[in-house]
Amino acid sequence: MEFHKIARSGQIPEGVVRRFFAGEVEIAVSRSDGEVHATSNYCSHLDCLLSSGKVTDEGLLCSCHGSVFDYGSGEPLCPPATRPITVFPVREEDGHVHVGIDAELAESAMRRRAVGARRLGDPAS
Ligand code: FES
Repeated sequence: MEFHKIARSGQIPEGVVRRFFAGEVEIAVSRSDGEVHATSNYCSHLDCLLSSGKVTDEGLLCSCHGSVFDYGSGEPLCPPATRPITVFPVREEDGHVHVGIDAELAESAMRRRAVGARRLGDPAS
């Protein structure tokens, strides 16, 4: 697994979630209790951007319909989401945040629920 430097530590203050990219992989990076967490940026319910959500004591809150995802496991702690989100390993070193990504994690983080539906309307398909 390769670790990618994606942000300066100061870009992710306590209680904040922001969107960053590692290549084409979109990542929601948050800080709770001083610890940095990195997950896929798409909610497993209906693809809302988790970087538009909120950091809570319990987990990352999706602002669309209120599911909260455990920072460590990515499991939903309350409905309507029933599937986990992808969680990336994180290292914070020398004032920077590094996120571990391999092909499997990248693929699962980029998978969006509505992609198939959008492709049906794509004139190229
Ligand atoms: S899209 Fe996140 S809870 Fe519905």
